[in-house]
Amino acid sequence: MSVFRHGLFKGKVALVTGGGTGIGKAITEELVTLGCKVVIASRKMDRLSKAVEELSPKESKVEAKVCNIRQENEVKNLISSIIKENGKLDFVVNNGGGQFLSSVSNMSTKGWNAVIDTNLNGTFHVCKEAYHQWMSSHGGAIVNITANMFRGMPMMAHSGAARAAVENLTKSLAVEWAQNGVRINIVAPGSIYSSTAKSHYGDHDLFGNSRPGIPAKRVGTPQEVSSAVCFLLSPGAAFISGATLRVDAGASLYSPQMYQIPEHKNLPAYEWKFKEDEEEKPKAKL
Ligand code: ADE
Repeated sequence: MSVFRHGLFKGKVALVTGGGTGIGKAITEELVTLGCKVVIASRKMDRLSKAVEELSPKESKVEAKVCNIRQENEVKNLISSIIKENGKLDFVVNNGGGQFLSSVSNMSTKGWNAVIDTNLNGTFHVCKEAYHQWMSSHGGAIVNITANMFRGMPMMAHSGAARAAVENLTKSLAVEWAQNGVRINIVAPGSIYSSTAKSHYGDHDLFGNSRPGIPAKRVGTPQEVSSAVCFLLSPGAAFISGATLRVDAGASLYSPQMYQIPEHKNLPAYEWKFKEDEEEKPKAKL
């Protein structure tokens, strides 16, 4: 069960890009559990419909819309249809994005541009449209999902550059849009296990490899990211804007060369079941 109060987001409407899988799906689950109507958007309807089928709580609703966030016109249409059908747009979670593993020397300009286009330009399009079509006159809260790029992002430099830019964009918007009642923050996840992420990186054992560098000596769960997002969207964060909340158990601060943390199990994973009557989900191999 969510740590937040039942009905916390009753009557609210949220857009979660990339909301059908991984971290985005966990964010969607927690928002609907708290009474929010959630529109999930990404490029592929098959992934979205599967999530809509699974997320069918009694009191709220999830709806899917196809949108390529790289395309300004598609984003314009997405936002206007949400407002037309739901009468409002209280929250935006810019989670849609991605990258592929490559050294910069092997990276094509096309590959570089694609990652910048999705992660940076896509976020820009969604923020701008949400602002113009709703939040400039009604306020709202936005959370941008980035990554642990604080010391560079070797083998994912395109993503690191885009996410660092999103962080700076977020700071500018926090100041420009405060007078409109808009708060905008960042959640920067560290190494978070999901089956989608695992299959995306194939043979590269990104999760196994990252474990020694995480002070918790385990990778994170999508729910540990979603609770941070829900907090930043909630009235509990009413005085927080332009902030970056790192959800990485201190991994971005840790240099094993300077100080060795022994193996331990003293920061166990936080997970919860979406449907109370459901069997416990198979535990991720943390
Ligand atoms: N998730 C990853 N890439 C995306 C895109 N171009 N549009 C929407 N969601 C995405």
